[in-house]
Amino acid sequence: MCGITGYIGGSDSTAVLKSSLKNLEYRGYDSAGIALVDDTVEVYKRQGTIDDVAVPTDCDPSHGIGHTRWSTHGEPSDDNAHPHTDCTGELAVVHNGIIGNFHELKAELGGHVFTSDTDTEVIPHLIEEELERGRDLYPAVSDVINRLEGSFAIAVTHADCDAVVLARQDSPLVIGHGDDGMFIGSDVTAFVEYTRQVTYLEDGDVAALTPDGVTITNDGTVVNRPITQVTWDAAAAGKSGHDHYMHKEIHEQPHALRQSLSGRLDELAGEVDLDIDIDQEVLADIDRIQLVACGTSYHAGLFAKRLFETLANVSVTVTRASEYHVTGADDPASTLALAITQSGETADTLSAIREAVSMGARTMAVTNTVGSTVTREVDDTIFIQAGPEIGVAATKTFVSQVATLALFSVYLGRTRNAISRNDAATFLSNLRELPGAVQEILDAEGEIERLAAAYGDGESFFFIGRHLGYPVALESALKLKEISYDHAEGFAAGELKHGPLALVTPETPVIALLTEGTEPQKTLNNVKEVESRGASVIGMASIEESTAFCDETVDIPDIGRMESLVANVALQLFAYHIAKNKDRNIDKPRNLAKSVTVE
Ligand code: F6R
Repeated sequence: MCGITGYIGGSDSTAVLKSSLKNLEYRGYDSAGIALVDDTVEVYKRQGTIDDVAVPTDCDPSHGIGHTRWSTHGEPSDDNAHPHTDCTGELAVVHNGIIGNFHELKAELGGHVFTSDTDTEVIPHLIEEELERGRDLYPAVSDVINRLEGSFAIAVTHADCDAVVLARQDSPLVIGHGDDGMFIGSDVTAFVEYTRQVTYLEDGDVAALTPDGVTITNDGTVVNRPITQVTWDAAAAGKSGHDHYMHKEIHEQPHALRQSLSGRLDELAGEVDLDIDIDQEVLADIDRIQLVACGTSYHAGLFAKRLFETLANVSVTVTRASEYHVTGADDPASTLALAITQSGETADTLSAIREAVSMGARTMAVTNTVGSTVTREVDDTIFIQAGPEIGVAATKTFVSQVATLALFSVYLGRTRNAISRNDAATFLSNLRELPGAVQEILDAEGEIERLAAAYGDGESFFFIGRHLGYPVALESALKLKEISYDHAEGFAAGELKHGPLALVTPETPVIALLTEGTEPQKTLNNVKEVESRGASVIGMASIEESTAFCDETVDIPDIGRMESLVANVALQLFAYHIAKNKDRNIDKPRNLAKSVTVE
């Protein structure tokens, strides 16, 4: 996730762009830049925030665009910062999202000189080719976006054009109608201090913005998009109107998941492309994966273990990074040590991966943070592409970690001939349904809020699940304890009767995972066990029997093996509303930090 801004009108464009970029820094802050247009296009950009960019104060551009970046392709650097230009230097583009087919497009752009490692840079060069054929900017952009796969919001300026051209597909873009010009933002936060009159572009829209208004087409036809009034004020702006970053990030999950999957899976062919550098023959010879991670990332590892074992037929250990140690039984030649870490900076995880490197094992990382320490120490990295996460409690990065590891499981399964093309195709189409299923849960938030109010005063909360439900039980308990400070535990449902059942009373609500891949019929027996001790049970269920067995049921959409990940989103909301009702410091829970850089 990055931030896009733009302005065209009578005010001081440079000042507007700079303040908008400051407002958007929560969307990404590793590099920034602006393009100012006044017969020529002048680009000022560099690694860091907009405060680090030397923008002249004596120019008077008629319009401009700006960008604050959270890296997905190419590490944070001056060259990789946006805007990106074509070979003439007269065209500048800012982009939010991921161009899945940029390798193919780049290969078609022979003769063009590229100066960055980004996927974005193909866009100005593709538009340049259209302009060379004598086309105007607007039709040129319309044609080029038809060739892009993935998600994008773009803003384009050209020295010879007195309009800014915008396009959107699966990545938000908003227009602001001011008294003295028109504004652009990847969300309203960019310009809410200047205007609250906004138009939301829709997928497939291409827009031309002039100081006086906007013309929008979709599939070649002029369309009218309504102007609406934003009610929230500048103070709520960074959170886009949400009360907390955590709530905003929970709601960003459909988009984060689409970004994680974007351009990486072909469900018809049953294939996955993750841009992995390690040779396929080397991966085919791996017979043990050691997953190392902490906290929420460790739970993502537990979930992934099941997927690797069933889809890639490889044996997997999952170790809390602080407990990892190499033993004489480890064979470096056939071991892949894989660090799962949102930040890429967690000291325990780095220490574990260093031990694996010293043993001589192949190493990989799955992380959200391009340029982080872990990426420099492993043989290969897969980025989860979830966008920056500000709330201390991990939410969208957890689901994106699991989705990315699911893709890697299929990749490995195909490489090792452990899964047929057809089975891979079925699993990948389930994965494709994940963002929509998560959206269904978010749309039912009112019901989860009701459950949080009804059961939030419990003495302790127990989450139970089997197989793919077990990591979700652990993660849901962690989320609740982190932000509400209530006592909560996750248990393997079958283990209850071996001890923890002694803790169950009428004051301890039990939340049961009853979805595909969690052996729900067996877990119903455990539901009966806790109910007979007086506990209330909330079922997170895709099976009909839940309503007969549990006091309450949250319906989980029927999407196969990834259902419990969808249930996890419902339980993030459950934790959030319990904590909110108790007036906790949700984004900064006591004693916790977003990145733990000490062992
Ligand atoms: C919990 C949480 C932590 C982190 C853990 C590892 O909500 O965020 O448990 O998951 O500190 O952090 P990363 O993934 O950055 O290595």
